[in-house]
Formats: sequence, structure tokens, C-alpha cells
Amino acid sequence: MDNLVCVSDFESQASKILSRNALDYYKSGAGQQTTLQNNKTAFTKLRIRPRFLTNVSNRDLSTTILGEKISIPIGISPTAMQRMAHPGGECSNAKAAESFNTIFTLSTIATSSIEEIAEAAPHGLKWFQLYIYIDRNVTLNLIRRAEKAGFKAIALTVDTPMFGLRLADVRNKFTLPPHLKFANFEGEKSTKINTTQDGSGLNNYVEKLFDTSLTWDDVKWLKSVTNLPVVIKGILTAEDAKIAVDIGVEGIWVSNHGARQVDGVPASIEALPEIVKAVEGKVEVYLDGGVTDGTDVFKALALGAKMVFIGRPTLWGLACNGEEGVKKILEILRKEFDFALALTGCSSVVDIKKEMVVHESYYAKI
Ligand code: GLV
Repeated sequence: MDNLVCVSDFESQASKILSRNALDYYKSGAGQQTTLQNNKTAFTKLRIRPRFLTNVSNRDLSTTILGEKISIPIGISPTAMQRMAHPGGECSNAKAAESFNTIFTLSTIATSSIEEIAEAAPHGLKWFQLYIYIDRNVTLNLIRRAEKAGFKAIALTVDTPMFGLRLADVRNKFTLPPHLKFANFEGEKSTKINTTQDGSGLNNYVEKLFDTSLTWDDVKWLKSVTNLPVVIKGILTAEDAKIAVDIGVEGIWVSNHGARQVDGVPASIEALPEIVKAVEGKVEVYLDGGVTDGTDVFKALALGAKMVFIGRPTLWGLACNGEEGVKKILEILRKEFDFALALTGCSSVVDIKKEMVVHESYYAKI
């Protein structure tokens, strides 16, 4: 692993290791994948305006999220079915996050259960990503188990009444390998994904199980059944952000679901400013989508995110070397972010000011 020094090195290496079925599933975006590309290129259109001679000899990368201190403003996004990448799957990923004292978010459709994660990373800060199933008892059961297992927030994904069309999965007739299952469930809900006759098995799985009738009333319902903070994941507009704040959610997670839902939506980093403005500091705002470098973290924080999350990079780390691979990914991003702080005159996250990041068009005017 010594020759893998950035996230894209890990991605190239993982591409050689993973099966076609798994690699295509992890890396695909929806439709023609323009948003997938844009999640990354939008970061390159932002310029950093560094300041100098500010004494950066002592740097502190930590921050506080929903009242909990984390050592870096970089957490782990929920990604599904991580045991396709490595036998340790979500447990290895959660352990890596625990050792960096940052947030690990477990997907509802994980190949490791809530209880397995609690056991693997007992001291880690864990969030649970929720999909609402038509059967509310199934949904409630997940919430109660997450509460009992010491998870600290529910991240409700709101962009997924159904899964987007990822063409490679349709072509591959994506299924979960038979030795794996959706570990948070019993019976059909755990194994229905293992077989498919037609198209993507994931699309077939959710068709009859996910609730396509969800509205903001269901967010109110969720708030009424749990005392855990509720973070709304998948917000892309000021309008929805305002509704979420009015309902009383604790956090807003700006995300286009790794560009996997509908192609053509903005890059997460493009959507961030209008949401930060709409929220008026009333709740914390986070971001995922296209973060592959420490300077991306810097840019997102300058534009108002309290922290960022990474999804695919941890899958590449897992594929290359399990828990150690994810730790290396986190270490790479930690170091790059530390360099970005030092080389722009910042000693901590509060020193990252809005005016330090501008769109490239700023320079066209000069
Ligand atoms: C799961 O959440 C996926 O996007 O495939």
C-alpha cells in the first residue's frame, strides 16, 4: 500500500481487485453520469485565496458535531453492501473511523448489522442511515435497535423513494453475491437482493419494500418516535432546507447520493451555498459528494459545511486492504487537509473564512 498516496491511487488499485458486479455498483452514477463527473469538477472550479504570516505552528483539525467532538471534519458516508469490497465490510470501516475519532454512518442496507457494528467499534461515534420501509414496524425496529446499540443520530435519506437507474447495474443484472445478505433484516428483506431475473436487483428489491409515498409528515413522524437527533440527508435546494429547519431537524446533509439518483442535479458543492444561506445558522450543515482531496474539505468548510463525509474513497480503501486501507484513506485526507490549513494561514477550522474560497469567475473579472 506504500505506493498508494492519494484517493485516486486507491481507486485505480481497487478497480483491479473488485469484481465487475461490485466495482460497477460502487462507482456508478445515474443515467449518463454527468452529475457524477460534476461532483468532482465543480470543486476544481473553486479557487482558494490563501493568507500568509499568521503563525500556523499549532494546528487543530477537530470540530464539534451535534455536541460531540471529532478529530477531523471528515466522516464516513453510508454506502451499501460493503462486504462486497472486503470480508470485514462495514465493521472494518467503522473500526477505522473509531480509530480516527470520527463519525461512521451505517447504511440500512448494509451487509453488517447494527449490533455487529456496535460490537466492532464500541467507542466509535456511530450514526444510522435510515430508509423508511412501507412496513412501519420494520422501520421502527431499525430505529429502536440503533438507539439501543448507542448510535448517536438518525440520518434519514430523503432522495430515495426508489433507487436511480444506474445503467451498469441494469446491464450486469446486479445482485448481491449469495454468501452475503442485508444483515439488518430477516427473511425476504435480507435475501431478496441475492437473485434477479431482470435489470438491477437493487431496483427490484426496493420496488415493493420502500415507501414511495413519503412526505414531510413522515419526517415529523420520525421525530415523534425517537429522541435521537434527526439529520436529513439528500437536500439540494434552499426550499427543502427551510422546510426541514421549520420541522425541527437537527442537521442537514447536502448530498446528491453520490450522483446515483437522478442525473442532472447540481454537484453537492454547487448546491451548498444556497442551503447554508437558507438555514441561517439554525442547524448544522454537512456535505458529501466528490470529496477526494483535503483541499475539497477546505472548500466545503469555507462555503459553510460543518464537516464533510466520504463514501467511495472508503470503499477503495476497504477493497485494497480492509480496515488498514480505510485508515490510510483517512490519514491521506487528514494530512492533505492539515497541509491546506497550514498553507492558507489557518490554524483551525474556525479560521477558514468564506472569502477564502471563490468561484473561478471571480478572476475573470480582474
Ligand atoms: C444505496 O444507497 C445506493 O445508492 O446504492
